[in-house]
Amino acid sequence: MRDAAPTTIYLKDYTPFGYLVDSVHLTFDLTPHATRVTSRIAFRPNPNATDRTFFLHGEELTLIRAAIDGGEITPELSDKGLTAITPDAPFIWEAEVEIDPGNNTALEGLYMSNGMYCTQCEAEGFRKITYYPDRPDVMSTFTVRINGDLPVLLSNGNPTAKGEGWAEWTDPWPKPAYLFALVAGDLIAHPGQFTTMSDREVELNLWVRPGDEGKCAFGMEALKKSMKWDEDVYGREYDLDVFNIVAVDDFNMGAMENKGLNIFNSSAVLASPETSTDANFERIEAIIAHEYFHNWTGNRITCRDWFQLCLKEGLTVFRDAQFTSDMRSAPVKRIHDAIDLRSRQFPEDNGPLSHPVRPESFQEINNFYTATVYEKGAEIIGMLKRLVGDEAYAKALDLYFDRHDGQACTIEDWLKVFEDTTDRDLSQFKRWYSQSGTPRIAVAEAWDDGTYTLTLSQRTEPTPGQDDKQPQVIPVAVGLLGPNGDEVRSTEVLELTETEQSFQFTGLAARPVASILRDFSAPVILEQDQTNSERAFLLAHDTDPFNRWQAGRSLAQDTLLRMISDEAAPDADYLDGLLSVLRDGELDPAYRALMLGLPAQSELAATLYERGDTPDPMAIWAAVETLRQATAQHMQDLLPRLHGEAMVDAPYSPDAEQSGKRALGSAALALTSRLDGGAMAADAYANADNMTLQLTALSCLLRARKGEEELAGFYDQWKHDRLVMDKWFGLQVSMASPEATPKTARALTEHPDFNWKNPNRFRAVMGALAMNHAGFHQTDGTGYQLLADWLIRLDPVNPQTTARMCAAFQTWTRYDAGRQDLMRAQLTRIAETPNLSRDTTEMVSRILG
Ligand code: ARG
Ligand code: ZN
Repeated sequence: MRDAAPTTIYLKDYTPFGYLVDSVHLTFDLTPHATRVTSRIAFRPNPNATDRTFFLHGEELTLIRAAIDGGEITPELSDKGLTAITPDAPFIWEAEVEIDPGNNTALEGLYMSNGMYCTQCEAEGFRKITYYPDRPDVMSTFTVRINGDLPVLLSNGNPTAKGEGWAEWTDPWPKPAYLFALVAGDLIAHPGQFTTMSDREVELNLWVRPGDEGKCAFGMEALKKSMKWDEDVYGREYDLDVFNIVAVDDFNMGAMENKGLNIFNSSAVLASPETSTDANFERIEAIIAHEYFHNWTGNRITCRDWFQLCLKEGLTVFRDAQFTSDMRSAPVKRIHDAIDLRSRQFPEDNGPLSHPVRPESFQEINNFYTATVYEKGAEIIGMLKRLVGDEAYAKALDLYFDRHDGQACTIEDWLKVFEDTTDRDLSQFKRWYSQSGTPRIAVAEAWDDGTYTLTLSQRTEPTPGQDDKQPQVIPVAVGLLGPNGDEVRSTEVLELTETEQSFQFTGLAARPVASILRDFSAPVILEQDQTNSERAFLLAHDTDPFNRWQAGRSLAQDTLLRMISDEAAPDADYLDGLLSVLRDGELDPAYRALMLGLPAQSELAATLYERGDTPDPMAIWAAVETLRQATAQHMQDLLPRLHGEAMVDAPYSPDAEQSGKRALGSAALALTSRLDGGAMAADAYANADNMTLQLTALSCLLRARKGEEELAGFYDQWKHDRLVMDKWFGLQVSMASPEATPKTARALTEHPDFNWKNPNRFRAVMGALAMNHAGFHQTDGTGYQLLADWLIRLDPVNPQTTARMCAAFQTWTRYDAGRQDLMRAQLTRIAETPNLSRDTTEMVSRILG
């Protein structure tokens, strides 16, 4: 239930808790609707705190009994927690509470999924399990006894005792409550084993529901690779005797790094060639790595308060990106990350939800697990590493682990290790954490008698709460190419620190073509008046794989924008340049597949809006279709060869090489389908022996407005598999024509398998609706209305997932007055829903502005 006036929490108000916790003992007596949680907690006054108010968080708990040093007390209760009078000396707190996991649909705290008990405590879910100072700077060791009539009983740390119907776990590493976890159920282990760098044996298990045993092997291997990589690259060793991962079907996010007991959305860990795509495998490998890497960056060193979330998330995303680059292809990973940042983070940073990587206030912290905190947070670390160099980065990280192990830290602590190891003053750099909005860099060039002058100027548009922006430290990686395509200056990192700055390159024989922002060296928007012949030149010659791809992307964007605004025909420079890149058999197939990509329609809308035009989603959609058709025709002769190069005649492996080939083959198939009406795709569907090929072929058929039969066959083949059915639901919405999109989505919500309380299934349909740009933005408003109907329905059941999905409306002010009115009406309808959750209230009111 919502408070009358939602409270806003501010970073500046931080004060330490008045007590330290020396140990926590918990006993769980599990039953679906009346689980008893008994706690025994050793507190003592915190010498570094002045306020001795003894307030323990607690929500949705029934207090049965409370005692201090064995004497029963009657604490003062509110809907947020309790307060009690305590001795001015160490004391033992005991409490017994009752909770109802069987009715916990919010999936936060202790809840049930398919008869399995599981927990999600980050950020503030532990307070729904028992009374506790539920804040990350309160750290303690935990001992947990679980009594329950289920075969598998798990918690954090090492198993210390067990018997019939009970188990005890002890976690020797002090941790905040958000890392607590408990799992109990009828589960099967896929076992594994790892020997650490100092020769300790670690038992690994991936726990799944009966029936999912065949989907564990890949996740287990990914875990072992992650453990090895963190030793090799960061010198970080695992620190318990066991490491458990559990797959859960009902989960709000991807996964959670609970100490020694990671809990995963089953979509983020279960995989098999028949049921998962190459992209699924890659994502799973990255998430397993991410959660494992949190053991050091998040668990051993945690956050002082939730404003510091990027301390662990930005760093851990950066580490998992390094891991993926090492395991797969670094340029391909970098391009994927830039695409992702532009499609998810830029809209956030340049709209009503814009917030700093380290926010300064919030109402509901769950609303700040954002692309800005995670992905822009990771980009900041990449910039820092580029500025100080690899060696200094390694030194700073060693110092970070040495100095802060066992502590709850801040961004100040993090930057200080870099200042101490490099003697750099990072006070200006720190603006990346406090200033929201995407910086834009304008480029001016001059050429005079052997000297090339590059003038860069930066500006950031105002964002909510921040009207005036200060210049940031932006590493701009630049290389120069001579007229024959040779590189005449190799990559150099220019440090842009002023509003405007010039950089000179002397002694050049001829006017060069500059390749700017190589490797996407900063999360910024580059505003460069390049001619299409310069872009085509870079597409042909740039030695930096990112910028070579970017040149193609800029050509594509340019031609699309002119097709949209001036009804221009598809640009020949683009089509020819693309053709020669695709012909180049020396180039990595994965890279060539990326070259065939186009900017997202929402991204084109953003660009149009930023230059003062009102984006028309149908016109954007039509331009993309026309360009695709023209590309297919232009490449007609090459397509069979691309298919040939994409052939894999080895047993399926989701590795970079094979998936790159399949990506190229799939892109070629999609283009071919525009020429042959889907004949080849029908064939490919019939012969597909893995999910990547099956799904690609099906999507080609659906886009050709064919494939009814295949769609039904797919359903019959896979109706028993929840994760594959999510694809079946989602694909129909993403492949629908714009006009049919809302109708298709609505029909699917009436399907008996639309289990809307499951976040994966809900997102499969509603997420796909929001992502289908022209379909969502149909002028009759049916897309907006359908989404709003379902958000209103989901909110009382699952506020977190509802609130996240409200972001579909974040760009509403970019569109024409008619669409704005329709979207505002739906946002207002959501906002006015009685008893709307705090999560959704905050999101909708920020979006409405
Ligand atoms: N720490 C998790 C991760 O990034 C995310 C958990 C967030 N959960 C939430 N309900 N806000 O790996
Ligand atoms: Zn994380």
